[in-house]
Amino acid sequence: MQALTIEDLKITARKRVPRMFFDYADSGSFTESTYRANEDDFAPIKLRQKVAVDMRNRVLGTTMVGQDVAMPVALAPVGLTGMQRADGEMEAAKAAEKFGVPFTLSTMSICSIEDVASVTKKPFWFQLYVMRDREFAGSLIDRAKAVGCSALVLTLDLQALGQRHKDKRNGLAAPPKFTINSMLQIMARPAWCLNMLTTRRHTFRNIVGHVKGVNDLGSLSEWTNSQFDQSLTWGDIEWIKNRWGGKLILKGILDPDDAKEAVKAGADAIVVSNHGGRQLDGALSTIAALPPIIDAVGADIEVHFDGGIRSGQDVLKALCLGAKSTYIARAYIYGLGAHGSRGVTQSLEIIRNELDLTLAFCGETNVSNLGRHNLIASTLGHLQS
Ligand code: GLV
Repeated sequence: MQALTIEDLKITARKRVPRMFFDYADSGSFTESTYRANEDDFAPIKLRQKVAVDMRNRVLGTTMVGQDVAMPVALAPVGLTGMQRADGEMEAAKAAEKFGVPFTLSTMSICSIEDVASVTKKPFWFQLYVMRDREFAGSLIDRAKAVGCSALVLTLDLQALGQRHKDKRNGLAAPPKFTINSMLQIMARPAWCLNMLTTRRHTFRNIVGHVKGVNDLGSLSEWTNSQFDQSLTWGDIEWIKNRWGGKLILKGILDPDDAKEAVKAGADAIVVSNHGGRQLDGALSTIAALPPIIDAVGADIEVHFDGGIRSGQDVLKALCLGAKSTYIARAYIYGLGAHGSRGVTQSLEIIRNELDLTLAFCGETNVSNLGRHNLIASTLGHLQS
């Protein structure tokens, strides 16, 4: 069956990817209320239809931190992408490059910075967590620079890891630990096993072999809790900015005052994000948090958006509320788990088609002209301003 929606790809991915890895991507923290709100809060926002407008020559292309993008959608950093599919980060990066949108490699990826660089020609982006071992964090920045990454995405909302109950219950680890539970999950997906045998990349290759004493890294939460810097404050951003020296995007902003701090810190862009509902359960959905952030800093900094996007209509709504561009994460991870690189391309095509037609129905021909005038004002009451 041809996949027509992101939901179609999700259904296929669930059948192909072992439960612990599908659930890792699919879950939120604690009660998952914020994870659900990210998706749910798009629905009440209604678009304003305009008819008899010349809808030819539509333009979806724009820029993100000064770089041309084919549409206002980048691939967000996602940990363990190479466990959804063999060499998953390399596959996703190739699809993004071909499509003309940025790919962001997570610190907690399976394929390394150098692995991704070896299969791409254009620069990709690198996402960094601030770690207690500053020298290691610095060496990651240097490695990203050395391969020509064109933006650093610094994540600020994961100094500790939000508990995801499914990960605990499933015994999530990369590479998988050989427990009866994990063996059963893996044996239930024989095609995935065969596919995984085609690569030797099965652990966190940005880290293992690069940090003294780390030759194996079973548990993500173990590493995170021991290495991520809980003492991080705004003042720490300066050395990262200086060491990097390129475009800096601060990710994980959900509050207007924090957005103002990000401007003061000299970032090129912020990402309004609650980490896909995986950190502070009970936080606002990102679409609800976006308007007051735009009011606070929209004139001073480029504002990007992620969280809950499952369609081109969602992308368009975020743009109408002031985001310059958006990121998808689960929406492409489902494609990857379902069909590899081709599935990521399908995810991007689905979203492009939805965005393009929705733009036209709203009577617009350029994504850069979208604004609140395209929304029914009375349907925005659940948002913040
Ligand atoms: C890491 O970024 C995670 O959310 O698991």
